[in-house]
Amino acid sequence: MTTWDAESFDRFEREGWAGRSDAYREGFARLTARFVAPLLDAAGVGPGTRLLDVGCGPGPVSAAALRRGAQVTAVDASPEMAALAAAAHPGLDVRVALLDALPFADGEFTAVTGNFVIHHLGDPAAGLAEVHRVLAPGGRAALTCWNQEAMRALALFGEAVAESGVARPAEAPETAPFLAGCDAAERPAAFCRLLDAAGFRDADVETVQLLHRVDPGQWWHDITAGTPVAGTVLHHLDAASRAAVRRVYDRKVAAHAVGDGFVALPAVALLGAATRAG
Ligand SMILES: C[S@@+](CC[C@H](N)C(=O)[O-])C[C@H]1O[C@@H](n2cnc3c(N)ncnc32)[C@H](O)[C@@H]1O
Repeated sequence: MTTWDAESFDRFEREGWAGRSDAYREGFARLTARFVAPLLDAAGVGPGTRLLDVGCGPGPVSAAALRRGAQVTAVDASPEMAALAAAAHPGLDVRVALLDALPFADGEFTAVTGNFVIHHLGDPAAGLAEVHRVLAPGGRAALTCWNQEAMRALALFGEAVAESGVARPAEAPETAPFLAGCDAAERPAAFCRLLDAAGFRDADVETVQLLHRVDPGQWWHDITAGTPVAGTVLHHLDAASRAAVRRVYDRKVAAHAVGDGFVALPAVALLGAATRAG
């Protein structure tokens, strides 16, 4: 898939998450969890907030919001992810639903969070319009997305595929539609414009970056077993091609070594927040 086709991308996403929820929770979610506190702060989540957590995955945002005293409803497109969130957080109201077709009335929530979900939509503008619709006037939205190639922890894999010279399978998208075509420096402003276009006011996008300290072999497993694009790419390669990609990955990831066999991988996110006009 080299050109944008929202329906194909959404189909890829639906199929791509299937069977990966346990590996995601055990691996990649340890990284996304580190962005939860700034996300909840940006959404103003506290006691009494009526929060909708979209693309909840195994539920790290919902769980932290419950601990802050919010009333939390969570949705995820993946039945497996929704089941993990429900099992891990008894009492959490979890539904299987798409972000761009939310099964809620207008103005039902005072805050909406989406931790690393908006870039998984074929039509992110439609998702932001739904977030706006279900918020009450004055309600806050906060959403994170990766700042693509600045996000070294993920970019390493794509670069290893490209540099190893193997043919990238057509089934796996090369980039997400969200902010595609912008270079890293332009993305905060482009994210702001998308929030403005959805009808929000006071849109603001900040960059949140950290180092993810991890065993490099574990990280290979975390991204190839627990995320749809890397997993699909590897699945379609023969054993020799997989080994070639792994060799380049091993060489590139070693540049981030910090001792004791661990690496510290830069992870860079954009955190967009905005208010629904009254
Ligand atoms: C990277 S995970 C993030 C999970 C969780 N928010 C976290 O912080 O770890 C992306 C999640 O979004 C879900 N997702 C992808 N597309 C979606 C859509 N259109 N509507 C709702 N959820 C979606 C996936 O099933 C997956 O659970």
